[in-house]
Amino acid sequence: MAQYDVIVIGSGPGGYVAAIRCAQLGLKTACVEGRDTLGGTCLNVGCIPSKALLHASHQLHEAEHNFAKMGLKGKSPSVDWKQMLAYKDEVIAQNTKGIEFLFKKNKIDWLKGWGSIPEAGKVKVGDEIHDAKNIIIASGSEASALPGIEIDEKVVVTSTGALELGKIPKKMIVIGAGVIGLELGSVYARLGTSVEVIEFLDAITPGMDAEVQKTFQKLLQKQGIGFTLGAAVQKVDASKTKAKVTYKLRKDDSEHVADADVVLVATGRKPFTDGLGLSELGIEMSDRGQIKTDGHWRTNIPGIYAIGDCIDGPMLAHKAEDEGMAAAEVIAGKHGHVNYGVIPGVIYTHPEVANVGQTEQSLKDAGVDYKVGKFSFMGNGRAKANFAADGFVKILADKASDRILGAHIIGPMAGDLIHEICVAMEFGASAEDLALTCHAHPTYSEAVREAALACGDGPIHM
Ligand code: NAI
Repeated sequence: MAQYDVIVIGSGPGGYVAAIRCAQLGLKTACVEGRDTLGGTCLNVGCIPSKALLHASHQLHEAEHNFAKMGLKGKSPSVDWKQMLAYKDEVIAQNTKGIEFLFKKNKIDWLKGWGSIPEAGKVKVGDEIHDAKNIIIASGSEASALPGIEIDEKVVVTSTGALELGKIPKKMIVIGAGVIGLELGSVYARLGTSVEVIEFLDAITPGMDAEVQKTFQKLLQKQGIGFTLGAAVQKVDASKTKAKVTYKLRKDDSEHVADADVVLVATGRKPFTDGLGLSELGIEMSDRGQIKTDGHWRTNIPGIYAIGDCIDGPMLAHKAEDEGMAAAEVIAGKHGHVNYGVIPGVIYTHPEVANVGQTEQSLKDAGVDYKVGKFSFMGNGRAKANFAADGFVKILADKASDRILGAHIIGPMAGDLIHEICVAMEFGASAEDLALTCHAHPTYSEAVREAALACGDGPIHM
């Protein structure tokens, strides 16, 4: 059997990026993947397909709501659902084939099948056992359904089923107001589905800046999405075409039942490590089912590393990618590093929501004296021209030093705008550094500069 310097298990954004970086650093590398295509959850049934459907449904929304205001008249487009799904599948194919091309270019062997680790230094795929000086586990995560709720991926679905429903449902109940629930809920609401989100907590998007949470909920409500907060879903009774969701309001324990054609269960994800043989190997796990690693992504077994959703930290593709590159560098004897304090989070709804670093709450909890610079997109010329003036940029900076500690954006292209703040934070910049940087006019990014100005002597356009 072939001898490898590194075998990566899993070809999602963590695994494929780790494999490519290993190969670039001169290590003989293979990557094990059991799906028919490379790219893992993100490319096949996650980030990429959902973005295709968000893009398509947003175009419909623009046509229905904004075209006439700009003097673009005519019949609104109608939805050919089959074609929309075909477009989404084509986007997936282009991306997954792209990874296959990159593997060939970097001379990475794709070991097709599901891998396991019979002992340190060996990876079993099918009947074959391959030798590897180093193994990187990048096996990702899977939807964690609620106890007693059966997923059929047709009427009661996870994000996977929600990306390929047979038809656009009339009524959808989304359980969980997290990222998946709100992104996919937005898709269907724009396509005409009546969407009701049932959330256990009293606010949507747990952990996010409280002001963003409130604004975000209001804007989604304006788009027709309904919310029942503080409600614990008890059970889902499903037939072949319908479902009944029973939930209890936490405030008074009253029980309610809601009907839907489709129920999307979006209550979080859990590490996927089945079949790897980790307990037989004696790999230490946390009580949340994550593989325990040290600051260099090493497990307790020498030569075995783990990255991405199957270890601690936010379950984000880009966090996994960074860990993949860093672990590869550690294996190659370099100094891999991930700054966990500067990992952006983005929700690709309309408007987008993005954040990085600390929230006001976390700063209060830590007793840090901070100041807030806020600027509304209402004061941004470009946003007004594009019917995108809902939302704001909020920058949090240390009161004494002016160093940027966090940022929260709800508004147009928030997911792109956040990165100038990430770069600034990586360089330990102050809000004044951002404020003194010339920003092209007219761009959405001027709102970021104005928020930075608001941390000092004040914004110009407010
Ligand atoms: P999540 O953890 O973001 O949200 C789950 C929500 O479900 C929470 O608000 C929770 O309070 C609620 N919940 C749990 N049990 C409930 C019950 N019995 N009744 C009512 N509500 C209940 O999980 P989500 O949205 O499933 O996403 C999973 C992971 O995938 C997250 O880590 C997320 O960051 C990641 N992801 C990231 C994306 C992005 O970066 N744009 C896109 C999609 C997923």
